[in-house]
Amino acid sequence: MKTKALYAGSFDPVTRGHLNIISRASKMYDELVVAVVTNPNKKSLLSLDERMELIRKLTSELSNVQIDAFEGLLADYVNANGFTAVVRGLRNSADFDYEIAMAQTNADLFTGGTETIFMMTDPEYSYISSSTVREVASLGGKIDGYVPEIVADVMYDKYRRK
Ligand code: COA
Repeated sequence: MKTKALYAGSFDPVTRGHLNIISRASKMYDELVVAVVTNPNKKSLLSLDERMELIRKLTSELSNVQIDAFEGLLADYVNANGFTAVVRGLRNSADFDYEIAMAQTNADLFTGGTETIFMMTDPEYSYISSSTVREVASLGGKIDGYVPEIVADVMYDKYRRK
């Protein structure tokens, strides 16, 4: 049986930390779907299309990675698409506390035996978050250590237009 994993997130924007998880997870499963989740209660900087397009470009060399999007419950998307695993990146103990509750809740909601798999973020990315990157960029700071150049360009452009 082919294995298929899901890596879901807001990716507003996708960071080098996310890309590190995507690259490593793509080696562990036959197929990896990176899904951008729309949260109607959260105002995002980048549109859904921009977030998907950036991830598509940055993962173009990973032939088993596909990009998708969904809104609503992660478990509904997982149950409808038959994933072997949901991959989550862990940066620190705060992530662990939050993630364990989410994984246990999802386990109640998954109907097909999908497992949540945790991967430790490489240490150099352990303090990066999308909101920190947004804040630094909005104030004109340097973000190339946190995101690839094409992401930084889109972000600076957005803030220039604001
Ligand atoms: N490298 C860099 N940053 C990382 C990272 C990594 N490896 N892992 C996480 N982060 C950052 C994210 O960018 C995000 O930053 P931000 O809060 O500044 O935007 C933060 O850490 C939290 O990440 P995450 O927990 O993945 O949040 P998210 O918003 O990206 O995704 C969902 C969370 C969308 C997967 C989750 O809310 C969900 O499943 N939503 C659907 C609704 C649902 O089913 N709810 C019930 C769940 S039990």
